[in-house]
Amino acid sequence: MTDGQEPPEAEDATQSGSATLPLRPPCDRLQCNKSSVCSRSYFVVVMVFFHVYIINVIALLFYVHYSSGQDDASRSGGAPPGGHQRSESRRPPSKPDFQRDVSLTRIEGIRVGHVQKVSLVPGKVHEMRTLSLKPLLFEIPGFLSEDECRVVMQLAQLKGLMESQLMVQDGQEELAKELNLSPEEIFNLLDINQDGQLQLQEILTHSRVRDGIWLTPENLREIYAGLKADKDGNGLLSLEEFRLLSNDAFQRFLMQRGVKRSQLVRNSRHTWLYQGKGSHQVLQDIKTRVTRLTRLPPHLVDLSEPLQVVRYEEGGHYHAHHDSGPVYPETACTHTRLAANTSTPFETSCRYITVLFYLNSVDGGGETAFPVADNRTYDEVSLIQNDVDLLDTRRNCDKSNLRVKPSKGTAVFWYNYLSDGRGWVGEQDEYALHGGCVVTNGIKWVANKWINIDPDYQRQARYQQLVSQQPEEEDDEGLPESTETSSPSIHQDL
Ligand code: OGA
Ligand code: CA
Ligand code: FE2
Repeated sequence: MTDGQEPPEAEDATQSGSATLPLRPPCDRLQCNKSSVCSRSYFVVVMVFFHVYIINVIALLFYVHYSSGQDDASRSGGAPPGGHQRSESRRPPSKPDFQRDVSLTRIEGIRVGHVQKVSLVPGKVHEMRTLSLKPLLFEIPGFLSEDECRVVMQLAQLKGLMESQLMVQDGQEELAKELNLSPEEIFNLLDINQDGQLQLQEILTHSRVRDGIWLTPENLREIYAGLKADKDGNGLLSLEEFRLLSNDAFQRFLMQRGVKRSQLVRNSRHTWLYQGKGSHQVLQDIKTRVTRLTRLPPHLVDLSEPLQVVRYEEGGHYHAHHDSGPVYPETACTHTRLAANTSTPFETSCRYITVLFYLNSVDGGGETAFPVADNRTYDEVSLIQNDVDLLDTRRNCDKSNLRVKPSKGTAVFWYNYLSDGRGWVGEQDEYALHGGCVVTNGIKWVANKWINIDPDYQRQARYQQLVSQQPEEEDDEGLPESTETSSPSIHQDL
């Protein structure tokens, strides 16, 4: 993992340096005769090699300088050598019409456990530790002060929190009726691996996405037994078995039995706190600090979702999920919908970065789990295997690759998307899967700051242009960082 991170040129230099040294003593010209290895031509060859070597070293230095050039401008004095960030190297746009002069800074993780110093508030240095490289995930203790944590929780209570997930409503079968789907068609839709059988995973995943009910494999077996659905008892539903069930048989069964909050994907309450002009100073300070932390253009942070404050009671949880969806050509981002030319059936939040703040230390449980962090490979199918469901944070947090224990004031942050290699948002990072483990003792408070960026650069640019034209829009930029990016062109100001 770390092998690729070390600069190879350093090692090469010492090796080739020592290789040239033993050649020097025989080159005492006075003792050499014409036929010896110390002839003039030999000397010329050595000198040519020596010069080529020097030129190579200089070229390498230039390369390193230019590929990490941008962050030098924004680097604040506290960063140690090697603990700096590197922005994406700028390459000429691949298409002539795709003019971008913006490169998103991506902080380097270096290796797990690496600590870099960051300057976020005047007169204070924070330490930022790399927790994983897949996803690129960092932890910053003391990001918020005790007072700030208290204020955020109080403001959230003052505003009032709502259930994060509403209890299921039926009536979904109407959609199927409207589409006039046959049982075969529905079966084919659910049979993800197209093997002509419905495995437990296929039904579980479907139920979670469709109505937010988190069935466990045992629940499903109970339902099969209750409905006598799995006639041959092999744990799979064949098309014949499926045909005998009515369209909404599962839902009806669940409704009759009653669904508890603990059986939902998420069991918490939350609210949103606006962080713009006129909001509480603490909220504005947090936004400024997040901008400094992520080193993204302030506009992007300003135009992102408000701060989400979440409260979990004892027994609360949030099963593993992605904060943002995958990118398909037809996917629109919620925040740039305004600027989308066409309406699309798919919409996602496009949360490039998640900054998660722990507002209190939790007495028991409540860790944030990353089930597949730094896994060698990602295999969606193996996430749910027979009776072990790695996505289930009520049962299987102990099997997660990484767990972060909530500690008051600590922030963790990670990238939900990879880079596209050209300084913009790339593919969704599947390793960014995470969830909140069940709180076994006490209450848990967290806040989320999501930074929304559209993977479609043009759409993000259009959106910002539109927003900047709105007379009511806060053109505040009281942020000190804004001076370095201020420009009349929205493209430069992204
Ligand atoms: C979230 C989330 C994790 C946690 O709110 O999206 O993933 O530990 N929370 O509460
Ligand atoms: Ca199947
Ligand atoms: Fe999340």
